[in-house]
Amino acid sequence: MTAKHGWAFCLALAASVLSPHAAAEQRSLSQDWRFQRGDAKGADVAAYDDRSWRQVSVPHDWSIEDKPDGSPPFDRDAVSGQDSGYLPGGVGWYRRHLSLSAQDATRTVLVRFEAIYMDADVWINGQHVSKHHYGYSAFTVDLTGKLHAGDNVLAIRVDHADPSSRWYAGSGLIRPATLELLPPVHIEPDSVQVVTPSVGAAASRVEAHLEVANGSGRSQPVEVSTRILSPDGSVVARNDHKTTLAPGAKVADASAFDLSQPALWSPDSPNLYMLEQTVRTADGGSDVRRTRFGIRSITVDAAHGLRINGRPVLLRGGNMHHDNYMLGAAGLPAADARKVALMKAAGYNAIRSAHNPASQATLDAADELGMLVVDEAFDAWSRQKKTQDYARFFAQDWPADLDSLVLSGRNHPSVLFWSIGNEIPEQGAAPGIETARRMVARVRLLDATRPVTQAVSTGGPQSDGQFAVLDVAGYNYHAHEFADDHRRFPARVMFTSESISKDAFVYWRSVETMPWVLGDFVWTAVDYLGETGIGWMGYSQDWQKLGPYPWHLAYCGEIDATGRKRPAAYYREVLWKTGIDPISAFVRQPPGTEDLPDRHLFPITPPHLDWSLDDVHPSWSWPGQEGKPLDVVVYAEYPEVELFLNGKSLGRKPVGVQTEYKAAYRVPYAPGRLVAVGYRDGRAAGRWELRTAAEPAALRLSVDRARLRADGQDLAYVTAELIDAEGVPVYAPDQDRPMNVLVGGAATLAGVGNGDPHDASSFQSGRRRSFHGRIVAAVRASALAGDATVHVEVPGLPAQEVRIGVVSP
Ligand code: GAL
Repeated sequence: MTAKHGWAFCLALAASVLSPHAAAEQRSLSQDWRFQRGDAKGADVAAYDDRSWRQVSVPHDWSIEDKPDGSPPFDRDAVSGQDSGYLPGGVGWYRRHLSLSAQDATRTVLVRFEAIYMDADVWINGQHVSKHHYGYSAFTVDLTGKLHAGDNVLAIRVDHADPSSRWYAGSGLIRPATLELLPPVHIEPDSVQVVTPSVGAAASRVEAHLEVANGSGRSQPVEVSTRILSPDGSVVARNDHKTTLAPGAKVADASAFDLSQPALWSPDSPNLYMLEQTVRTADGGSDVRRTRFGIRSITVDAAHGLRINGRPVLLRGGNMHHDNYMLGAAGLPAADARKVALMKAAGYNAIRSAHNPASQATLDAADELGMLVVDEAFDAWSRQKKTQDYARFFAQDWPADLDSLVLSGRNHPSVLFWSIGNEIPEQGAAPGIETARRMVARVRLLDATRPVTQAVSTGGPQSDGQFAVLDVAGYNYHAHEFADDHRRFPARVMFTSESISKDAFVYWRSVETMPWVLGDFVWTAVDYLGETGIGWMGYSQDWQKLGPYPWHLAYCGEIDATGRKRPAAYYREVLWKTGIDPISAFVRQPPGTEDLPDRHLFPITPPHLDWSLDDVHPSWSWPGQEGKPLDVVVYAEYPEVELFLNGKSLGRKPVGVQTEYKAAYRVPYAPGRLVAVGYRDGRAAGRWELRTAAEPAALRLSVDRARLRADGQDLAYVTAELIDAEGVPVYAPDQDRPMNVLVGGAATLAGVGNGDPHDASSFQSGRRRSFHGRIVAAVRASALAGDATVHVEVPGLPAQEVRIGVVSP
């Protein structure tokens, strides 16, 4: 190092230590919140004494928490009743002390909330700094200039007035919160956009946009560097250039790159690149933004359907609400990601985020796993569905909330379409069409690369005006109209935004046979809290009486609330020819033995609208039915199947489009083994077995993750199931047992669930009865590394334990 360079180095070092112009920094605000349920007069003031408040970590949902006396949170008289699953809203307060250095306090400081349900007021050091109504949109509060060295207090009042939603919404800081400390010259956080205007296997063009802000009082020379890192982490493109920013200026900047032989993103190969954008000033300040992206093209038209990178893709879709069952609406990233992974593993390739913007964790997981997302804005516009819903705020808030949806989703390759709404009461009428037109135009200003859709339920010509302003027409439950509508509007591109499992075959046939029908999204892929009982009782019956307390789950999910595939999920795997479970067999519940006892209160008179498939079960344990004929259905991708009971053939049957991929048998019940065999080209190619279970003899534990990050947020899911002496899972409800989960060491119990739609016991106590033989516990890593143990007890059986390593991130 020469003397001259040595000096320059020392000066730069001194500048970076002494000046406020240090590197940008992001700090997670997941830990150390203080929370109080109910109103707290004066809690906006910094000096308020919050030491008696409970400590919580964020994401957090108070609606799912046990009452102070330890009793479960459900309430027969909850204002939102069946909509919220008999769970309450209310008012809650959060406070977070921020300890800042003198240098931090002078920086540009932003706090970003991914979602607060709902109607939040935010104060910093007693000063009111934000009011944000919508419970699902991300927003940023600028604290710059309002902070001081030492203790600063962020206070938030959340007002979840009931009834605000048609499903369980949860309450509070339901998604992550982050603090950003930026130097005066920085990248505007929402300005980053990466687009791929031309995509090809030989070469693709990538454009990276950003806006640089100069928050300093003087003109500044700035170096803007852009790097593109390939999926293997190597730098495949770079660009550095200099510019000078006037004081207070915000300047847009862009770089374009031609990448040869890029690894394209698609549902089958979700290759991800990293864009790294850096701005540096001469005084040592720097801001780096890393944005993951995928190189892929989307086209839709009525002749070819949906094509990704020029290849046809049929949307094997499922609707998903945001709650995480035993965690309520707390959007812990690992919980959100798990639902995406469960869907992927069951053969879905697409998610509709009903009826609100998907969380970042959902989109991140979808990017990584290759799931396509219809990212939705709203369930209501100007006309309310519930008295306290978003319609109260729509007129003034929609532009900012729609912008938030697009800005937080547009760099995710998984996002396929923007949906501006679901079953909007004003759909099809002039005000609804005009609002849609304005929304579509606004979306295009921020992202012109994706089609805009809306889920419309009016059906027939009443939908025409609405569909005319959209790129893609979302049909809720009108499969029979696809052919006629195509004759009337040959260029219209359609998909089923909602359908019912019961008619899965009919909906999927439209997708397979009509190129202008892009796909089918069932209501729902994953079960959810609220809209109680729609999957079990006739929706066409008196809606107001559906799902009486203690029902709290919709029970229409093809994957149950704990993550277990239900028969409808197996049927769909076959319809979609995924090869995941190419043959499976289920048994119809014998009349008079219904395990959900209030079914008889809601007699089903065909044609009914049950939001579920048939009442069939993965069980061959039907004590008391000996000798009586039971209905068995086999789902198969194979052209021929054969069923055997205890080794004796019950006949071969053809399977295919003509049988809707099902074969039906009537089998006189005898305990033992029921085996379905699938044949291709005359040879046995697949097999499925149901075995009669004896008494529970043991408990079997399995855990989905052996290691967790010690970040106070990561989750492992532990399944505890009853098995008989030969290891056969026990399914019969009369064999269910009380279980008790105890978590020790470097983790805590986040919640236990069993998927039983009317077991309204506590999710947090650890005590829960098995349902169809099992429970699932969500175990949350602590912020300190160590070993965690999960110990499960069942009266009369040996207790079992699993260990989980919690390691420093
Ligand atoms: C639809 C609605 C969904 C859900 C579903 C089942 O009409 O869009 O949000 O309510 O019915 O009831």
